[in-house]
Amino acid sequence: MKTATNKKETTAKATAKSTSTTKTATKAGVTKPKSDAASGLTELFEDGLKDIYWAEKALTKALPKMAKNATSKELIDALNNHLTETEGQISRLEQVFELAGQKATAKKCDAMAGLIEEGNGILEETEIGVVRDAGIIAACQKIEHYEIATYGTLRQFAETLGMSEAASLLEQTLEEEKGADKALTIVAVNAVNFEAAEAN
Ligand SMILES: [Fe+2]
Ligand SMILES: [Fe+2]
Repeated sequence: MKTATNKKETTAKATAKSTSTTKTATKAGVTKPKSDAASGLTELFEDGLKDIYWAEKALTKALPKMAKNATSKELIDALNNHLTETEGQISRLEQVFELAGQKATAKKCDAMAGLIEEGNGILEETEIGVVRDAGIIAACQKIEHYEIATYGTLRQFAETLGMSEAASLLEQTLEEEKGADKALTIVAVNAVNFEAAEAN
């Protein structure tokens, strides 16, 4: 028993030692910041706005493509409804940029570009009909979850920075993204997945 405790202590000491070693030897594995890297939360917030502004604009092209490829009426309606919401979200972001005293600028969001590319891949890999519909829902829900994470973070940044009006605009969009995700789950459960399973 005593030996086990001693062993634990030794391991703890070793971990502490390796942690402190990591701290002092950071140079090798740490990414060097670019010359224009964010140095405060305001800049990080503004960078995030630029990313999601690009992402929302890209979605106004991706969503109609998904709707064109869908066959379930419920799914087409959900996608078109969210396209209208997405256009409103772009205007809301423009208001947030204005509140931050910034010009609305889009900066390529690699994550959203990847999610959209994955969605396009699903179209190629599925037969038209309920199976493709199920694939479209899966791809769109990944997108919604990315947006939920992004808007949750940006709203929190805005709150921390004392920008309550911006925080409330971002909160409105966050709720829409959550609603879109829920609507897609309902379509999947009620109209698509069961039939897609039967299509085997
Ligand atoms: Fe959105
Ligand atoms: Fe969305």
